[in-house]
Amino acid sequence: MRRIAISVAASTMTLSLAACGTLGVTGDSSEASPTKGDDITVGVLMPEETNTRYREFDYPIIQKKVASLTGDKGRTVYANGGADAKKQTAQMEKMISDQVDVILLDAVDSKSIADTVRKAKDAGIPVIAYDRLAQGPIDAYVSFDNELVGEVQGRSIMEALGGETDTSTKIVMVNGSPTDPNAGQFKAGARSELNGKVTIAKEYDVDGWSPLIAESDMTEAINEIGKDNIAAVYSANDAMAAGIIKALEAAGVTELPPITGQDAELAAVQRIVSGEQYMSVYKPYPQEAEAAAEMAVARVQGKNIQFEALASDRVDSPTDKDIPAQLVPVVALTKDNIKSTVIQDGIYKLSDICTSEYESDCEDAKLR
Ligand code: BGC
Repeated sequence: MRRIAISVAASTMTLSLAACGTLGVTGDSSEASPTKGDDITVGVLMPEETNTRYREFDYPIIQKKVASLTGDKGRTVYANGGADAKKQTAQMEKMISDQVDVILLDAVDSKSIADTVRKAKDAGIPVIAYDRLAQGPIDAYVSFDNELVGEVQGRSIMEALGGETDTSTKIVMVNGSPTDPNAGQFKAGARSELNGKVTIAKEYDVDGWSPLIAESDMTEAINEIGKDNIAAVYSANDAMAAGIIKALEAAGVTELPPITGQDAELAAVQRIVSGEQYMSVYKPYPQEAEAAAEMAVARVQGKNIQFEALASDRVDSPTDKDIPAQLVPVVALTKDNIKSTVIQDGIYKLSDICTSEYESDCEDAKLR
């Protein structure tokens, strides 16, 4: 499953698509005959609520970008599936019957949503898979390089352990939801860095990415492996890392092992500053969310050249091949690069991170 077949550059692809008649226009986007004007509605479906990224970053960024691309005439409608696949299906069906112009879908369950993706397609509503690769006839996919996310996490564990590991080094892996294809890619990426170098003593796939389940899984792992025998914990994201830390603290662990995460949630950045969490993965949300908004608007307005230029990678899903895609790179976030990542990109202000509770940690980390 290595990095899902990213292929050809935009120019080659444009040619090949034109050659097989997929593109209806030639020349630049201004020559395209728009199917819709600026008065459009973009349906946005996000997958869960425990994670802060969806309400704090993804949706507001998409909303703002759609507004700016349409001279404030375009609207977005939002629904969050709350980690419930049936609920999300109903939300998407409503958007189809309300005849939104395009849907950005971050699927709770990439497989079970496929029939609804087909319904949208039949109703003439393009679906762009957002962050998680939904099955069914989607028009495009925007995400981060998810296998790279896992590699970055795995590499960070090795770095934290100082390269001095062997098969007696025991690690616990707490992966994301089995219905989220990203979770499988994170896991594969991490395993490519860890396999053969450490022993994965216990491993869990966590339904709905639930921090509570992650916490109880970690408690079980501690009971089986022993609290002093765990060299590091692979947590697929920050929200679960919080649950894992609770379990370790409840078991009386005072010196926490290196714990990974992902999403650069504010609470996780603070834990990194205080040394409770070793790292997170910073995924530049504006790049992903703005690209998705641009793709959605270009698709609805029939700006095919622009659309193709935004989606110059190619990925395969279990049901569809050669899906136009954009995969955004990511970086490890540790104590050392907080300023050059989340602060520089305006995700957080220093005052958000260095609240009174973290003041002295911020000084130690030379953030103040
Ligand atoms: C996203 C992660 C997120 C997780 C749980 C994944 O699909 O890529 O950023 O932490 O879902 O919502």
